[in-house]
This record gives sequence, C-alpha cells and structure tokens, in this order.
Amino acid sequence: MNHFTYRNGQLHAEGVPLAQLAAEVGTPFYCYSSATLERHFKVLAEAVAGLDATICFAIKANGNLAVIKTLANLGAGADVVSEGELRRALAAGVPPERIVFSGVGKTRAELTFALDAGVLEINVESEPELELLNSLAIARGKRAVIGLRVNPDVDAHTHAKITTGRKEDKFGIEWTRAPQVLRKAAAMPGIDVASIAVHIGSQLTELKPFSDAFRRLRDLFLMVKADGIALRRIDLGGGLGIPYDDQPPPSPADYGKMIRENLGDLGCALLLEPGRMLVGNAGVLVSRVIYVKEGATRRFLICDAGMNDLIRPAMYDAYHAILPITEPAAGVAYKPMDVVGPICESSDTFARQRPLPPLAQDDLIAFSTAGAYGATMSSTYNGRLLIPEVLVKGDSFAVVRPRPTYDDMLATEKLPAWL
Ligand code: LLP
Repeated sequence: MNHFTYRNGQLHAEGVPLAQLAAEVGTPFYCYSSATLERHFKVLAEAVAGLDATICFAIKANGNLAVIKTLANLGAGADVVSEGELRRALAAGVPPERIVFSGVGKTRAELTFALDAGVLEINVESEPELELLNSLAIARGKRAVIGLRVNPDVDAHTHAKITTGRKEDKFGIEWTRAPQVLRKAAAMPGIDVASIAVHIGSQLTELKPFSDAFRRLRDLFLMVKADGIALRRIDLGGGLGIPYDDQPPPSPADYGKMIRENLGDLGCALLLEPGRMLVGNAGVLVSRVIYVKEGATRRFLICDAGMNDLIRPAMYDAYHAILPITEPAAGVAYKPMDVVGPICESSDTFARQRPLPPLAQDDLIAFSTAGAYGATMSSTYNGRLLIPEVLVKGDSFAVVRPRPTYDDMLATEKLPAWL
C-alpha cells in the first residue's frame, strides 16, 4: 500500500497535490511519502516481531539523508556498500553499531574508515579481504568484527542482472568452503567472527530460494558451532520483491514466518537488509510531457524525464506503472503509446505500447514504484542535471535535494593549464 492516490481528480502524495509540487520545484522530480516509508518499515518489523532481528535499510536503494533519517527514527540500521554510503548513514544519524558494511570490493581506505567508525560488522566476501582486514585491525590494535558472506549456490529466479547467489556470481565465499574459511578467520588475532551472511538477489517473487539459502546457513551455523565457533548473528540480506504490476510477491508476514521456521530456534540474532521493500512504493518520478509525436507506426509520448533519471526500464526491462496526474475520466479510451525520454538512445524508453488515456503536451505523469534504485542510479548523461527529491509528510513537503544549477554542473570541472 502507498499514499499516492487521487483526491478530487488530482494525484496526491499524502495531502499534497503532485501538480502543486511540479509548479513549485519544476519537472522532473522524485517525490517520496513519509507515511509509506513508515508503513513499510512497521509491516516488516511486525513480521519479524519476537525474533531478535535488526532491520538494516540497504541504502543503495535510496540514499537520500531525509529518507534514511525517516527510517532511522523508527529504529532502522543501515546496510552500506561504500565509504560514501557509510558516511550517508552516519550523517543521517544511524548509530554505527546498527550499520553493516557489505560489498565485494571494499578498498583498504574503506575498510580502515569502517574500522574507525566502529560499525556492527564488516561482511567479508573473499580470503584476500579477510587477510587485509586482519592486518589493518592488528595495525590499529583492534579486532574487526566480521560476518562471512556465503555464496549458497541458489538461483533466486529473478532478473539475471540482479541474481547474486549462484556459484558463478562474484559474491561471497562458496558455501562448501565456508567452514574452512570460518575456522581460519576464528584463529586470526585481528578478527572477531560474529556472523554469516547471504544475499541471493533482488526483487524475488518466491520464498523457496530464500528458504533454500537460509537452510544452508542453518547447516553451516550448526556445523561450525560443533567445531567450537559460536556465531552470534545471521545476516539474511535483502531481496523480497514488491508489486510493480498486478502480480503480488509474497507478503512480509509470510517472509517473516519462513524466517521463523528456518532459523527461529537457533538462539542467535538476525540482521535483515531490505532496500526495495521499504522504499520502492514510497516514491514516484513526476515528469511532464514535452511532445506527443505521431511516428510511422507508433505514437510516442516524449517526456522530460530520461533514462538518466530512472534507468530501471532500460537496464532491467523493468515495468513502472504510469499514472496521469489528472485522473482520467471514467470510460475514456486507452490507446497504446511508447513512453520515451529525450536522451539520444533508443534504450531511453520507459514503456512500449503501454495503454494510456489521452495525454497532451504539458500534461504531467508519474512513474510509480520509483522510490528504490531510482535517484540512486541516476546520472548526468547527456549533460542533464540530477533532479530534485521532495519528501512529503501529511500536508507538508520539503525539497530534500534541490536541483543543481548549470553553473554548479560546470563548476565541478577544471581545464588543464595547457588549454
Ligand atoms: N544487501 C545486499 C548485500 C545487497 O547487495 C542488496 C542489493 C540488498 C541488501 C538490498 O536488496 P533489496 O532488498 O533492495 O532487493 N538496481 C537493481 C537492484 C540491485 C540490488 C543490489 N543489491 C534494481 O533496480 O532492480
């Protein structure tokens, strides 16, 4: 459920008409709903109530400080994958002891920064990383608290570009080798082995791959316990899908039940790293129609948002519902249109042959379910400025990332002396 609904024929974010925001901040822009963020966090927290579970928001899905802080105020920790994300989490007030540092290629500088920040755990993904972290910790007179990310060799049955848990994927340490690596880590003076972790992919629409992976973690947890390695936590990663179209993924309640069934009796703490399910439905991308063009075989709706603002359709063939900001009259005929942006690439296409009600030049539309991996994956391709982000709460709104100016854009570069 989200809080983007028509009121008096106008699409609103909670109590604020999106057309009013478009008039005040210009288009295109991202708009997030606080009530939706809060609702999604609470639904997940309820689903895992009674378990010793910490919800660490994967801020790669949405790194806006106001979004992170909204979730942190509800008790969320953070899952970060770079020094930049770690700095974002800290700047938004997430306590370091609720931050997990994940990622396949953390640099020496990033590991050092995380050690000094005192994060809850650093999830190690390779033996060279383990050795480097051990030596960095010893040099600083510390013990690095780690989780070992395990590759469980489970196919998540999601889009190939966001599947991460098969043995041919670059992530984690092969599960059959994990006991050996855990024993090695446990013997290192600079390492405190606290946990094992998985993340098998994103936008999963079935529970079975999760439970297959979690069973492997369970077996591993018990196997190393018998060897005298008492792990304190299991990190379950993120990945639960959300509805982009009318096919609902498993509910958070069923996901929680499955966690309980597979791991509830182990007596250890759990970490969850949800990204998309907390923020996906809490955001829309609002855009204005620049032209309606009659092509040889198709009608094109050319809008002012491009693939640089929302890359998911171009990159993953992702579906985002497109809503006119003015509610279509009842009984109006829907006709197929190609919804495209202004970028000079054919992949700058949000939807092909999408049935839409009549839309004209200057009309406003919203791409729904754009709160996750929208703004964070945007770029300035084609010399376009990053677009503003607006957070709504009830009848109030705030521009939480303003639109830069063209002067700002030019000021980031320098000409060499010889030019
Ligand atoms: N934990 C780790 C270690 C991850 O790599 C990810 C996402 C998450 C948690 C959060 O997963 P979520 O709950 O959001 O599924 N750009 C793609 C999604 C990439 C996901 C990468 N890892 C998209 O737009 O669909």
